[in-house]
Amino acid sequence: MFKKFWLRKNQKDSSTLRDKIEEIKKMPVPNHVAIIMDGNGRWAKKRALPRIAGHHEGMKVVRKTTMLANRLGIKTLTLYAFSTENWKRPKNEVEYIMRLPEEFLGTFLPELVENNVQVKMMGYKNQLPVHTLHAIEKAIEETKHNNGLVLNFALNYGSRSEILDAVKQVLNDYNNGTLKETELDEKNFSSYMMTANFADPDLLIRTSGEIRLSNFMLWQLAYSELWFTDVLWPDFSEEHLLEAIETFQNRQRRFGGL
Ligand code: FPP
Repeated sequence: MFKKFWLRKNQKDSSTLRDKIEEIKKMPVPNHVAIIMDGNGRWAKKRALPRIAGHHEGMKVVRKTTMLANRLGIKTLTLYAFSTENWKRPKNEVEYIMRLPEEFLGTFLPELVENNVQVKMMGYKNQLPVHTLHAIEKAIEETKHNNGLVLNFALNYGSRSEILDAVKQVLNDYNNGTLKETELDEKNFSSYMMTANFADPDLLIRTSGEIRLSNFMLWQLAYSELWFTDVLWPDFSEEHLLEAIETFQNRQRRFGGL
């Protein structure tokens, strides 16, 4: 009896989700969605669990979100997994987060390959532990011929440093004569950023009720639509992603025009 009810309920749930996905796909979806995945620690605290349990649960949400983004035809999904400021956290937490790419890719890489997902990373690679970098580079290599969703991990990423480094490279190219002042415009400057090969995000999502950018893609988010939710990242469901996209579809983007 219970099993029958459970089955019926879940069939209904998945058909509702399927309908919603089809509905959303009738309108243009954002090309590039960027997410500040926040609230893992609070999620764990609410359950009297260690903070790392929240990060582990958050990792599972990365998988679900990636799969749905791919299914919706989103071209790029950038996930803020670790900022240049996150090194200030307790050593055990940092070490745990740095093990997550290995666990995630160790488990889900075949699924990403099968679903034509391309893994990329932006951030300062030099300071990453060798095992973290190795897992990421292996995934980048094994998915480099895929042409579906680009899953871009922002890992040891900081936007102000990125902008400063771009300025330094511009100065360098100017001084050695490979760049003229007249050639430097917004498009050209963008090519010096870590996102050189990406379009700017159309939609930024931040979970957990914090309404700030936290040094994330400050240059690239200039004209993005922003969507904030109180939901903590480990509770972020497929329905929430669809809600964010639906809101995006109902907004008018004017890029400063009328
Ligand atoms: C912010 O929440 C979250 C992080 C700094 C880590 C995010 C990492 C994941 C979601 C897993 C990443 C998975 C892969 C595969 C790389 P918080 O800890 O600041 O939460 P709080 O504000 O509630 O304390």
